Parts: sequence; C-alpha cells; structure tokens
Amino acid sequence: MPKRTRHIDLRNSVVVITGAGRGIGLATAGRFAAAGATVIIGDLDDDVAAKAALQIGGRTVSHTVDVADRESYAAFIAFAQSQGPIDILVNNAGIMPLSPLVDESDEATDRILDINLRGVITGTKLVAPAMIQRGNGHIINVASAVGRIAVANGATYSASKFAVVGFSEAMHAELAPDGVDVSCVLPTVVATELAAGVGATRGMRPVKPEGVAAAIVEVARKPTFETWVPGYSKGLFYSVNTLPRRTRKLVSHAIGADTALSNVDRDARSAYERRAADSH
Ligand SMILES: NC(=O)c1ccc[n+]([C@@H]2O[C@H](COP(=O)([O-])OP(=O)(O)OC[C@H]3O[C@@H](n4cnc5c(N)ncnc54)[C@H](O)[C@@H]3O)[C@@H](O)[C@H]2O)c1
Repeated sequence: MPKRTRHIDLRNSVVVITGAGRGIGLATAGRFAAAGATVIIGDLDDDVAAKAALQIGGRTVSHTVDVADRESYAAFIAFAQSQGPIDILVNNAGIMPLSPLVDESDEATDRILDINLRGVITGTKLVAPAMIQRGNGHIINVASAVGRIAVANGATYSASKFAVVGFSEAMHAELAPDGVDVSCVLPTVVATELAAGVGATRGMRPVKPEGVAAAIVEVARKPTFETWVPGYSKGLFYSVNTLPRRTRKLVSHAIGADTALSNVDRDARSAYERRAADSH
C-alpha cells in the first residue's frame, strides 16, 4: 500500500533555527511564528538575534549560539528545551567565503567546515536523543545547490554542502525507524548578504529569502527529503546530470553556472567577507 503523506500541524510546535538573525533564517523564523510555532532564534550575533525576536514578536525568543562550538551549541539547545520539547531543528547557520583554494587560509578552511558541516552534525547529536525517545521530530538542514553542483572559487564551501547532503541522506535512513525525519533544502542564489556580489545564472533570478522560508515551512508540514529552491531547479539539475560530462559542461557554461562563484563583484562582497571571517 502506498505510504500516505503526513501533514504536520505547526501550531504550538517548538522550532529552533540557527543563524536566524538575518537572511534565510530570519525569514524562516517569521514564517514558522506566523504558523503558530514557538520559535527559538539562535545566532552568533546576539544583538541581531534579539532584534530579530523582537521584530517577529509573539512567542519568539532568542539566544546566542556559535554552532562551531559544542559547548555553546549545547547551551543553546538546553535553553530551547526549557521552552518545551524541540519538534523541529533547522540547521541554517552557514558562511560562504569565496576565493581560489590556494588563497584560502587554513583558518578559513576550518571555519567553513566547522560552521557549515560540524555545526550540522553537532546540532543533530544534540537534538536526536530526545526526538528518538519521543518517536517524533524533524531536522531540516539548509544545504545548497552547490551541494550537488560544484563550481570554481568556493571549493571548501561546496565540499561542506556536499557533505551536508550526504550526512542528511545517512541520517534520514538512520532516524526514520525511530519516527524522526531528516530533510535537506537546496537553494540556488538567494538575495542575502551571503550572496552579495554573486551574479544570477542565465534564466534563474536570485530567490528572495522568503521563498526559501516558504519552502522550509512546507518541508516541515509535509516532510520531503530533498527540496530545491526554486522548485524547477531540481528537475533541471537531475535532467542535465544524466548527460555525458562534456555536454554537462557545455550546458553549465551556456547558462553561466560554471562561473557563478568566480564572476563576483568583490567590492559588493567586501563587507560580507569581513563578517564571514569574523564568524567565531
Ligand atoms: N544566500 C544564498 O545564496 C544561499 C544559497 C544556498 C544556501 N545558502 C545557505 O543558507 C544558509 C543561510 O544563509 P544566508 O544567505 O541567510 O546568510 P546570512 O549571512 O544572511 O545569514 C546567516 C546568519 O548565520 C549567522 N552565523 C554565522 N556563523 C554562525 C555561527 N558560527 N553560529 C551561529 N550563527 C552563525 C550569521 O550571524 C547570520 O546572521 C547558509 O547555510 C547558506 O550556506 C544560502
């Protein structure tokens, strides 16, 4: 018999979102709050997180967190659990410093991997035991289209996102028998500070953070393993991916996807690059 799609009621659910002081996380926090959830905003930048919680209002609260630091992440989760058992964790915090690998310091490499990948693993370790015990819960990991399509000038970022997709796949299999869902969301280019100075791929305009937020809330309502934003980019990726490598390269070049992270406006990115370098 085909499995029935579950529809989760988000009213009164407890939703924890990392990196929710700005961008995609902030928009997602607003959407969950509007759906009646209690939202716990975590961000490295506590002023920004507190302002975000005030702006959203309702039962939204904030707490500082550095997802790269286990102790800090554990304190954040303990705070969140004091609001009620966690129903949903959105592992959203991430940074995207861009440069050729040979120009990337070892410190920058560690920072990208610690925040984008280790943060997701630590968050999962922290919330999974209680979710398993309750036989219910959902971990939604914000990966990226470059977690399936790797392009030049962001190799470590891309590697971190490929790893998040792989980790999500393995955890989906591992936790399903316990009634716990794991999903990943793969946005293309989103108009946030992280993507400042990144040009659009031909035929694909940057998505608004609210578009990604809507997709994340939809995934929470109807758990689906892999969601791309915009939705049509998933079909595009999987059909192009069946082509021989040489043809794939030609298509990627024709739409400008191959240079998406290298043809960037460095001046427009400078403020973001400084913030990303300071994300610890
Ligand atoms: N913007 C895009 O084009 C795009 C595309 C695909 C995927 N993504 C992913 O979406 C997620 C959110 O990105 P965004 O565009 O909203 O970025 P953003 O820079 O606008 O917001 C990210 C937030 O995360 C916080 N943060 C950074 N390091 C942290 C840490 N160590 N601990 C806790 N919080 C931390 C920042 O303070 C910031 O408020 C990231 O994982 C990113 O990789 C973004």
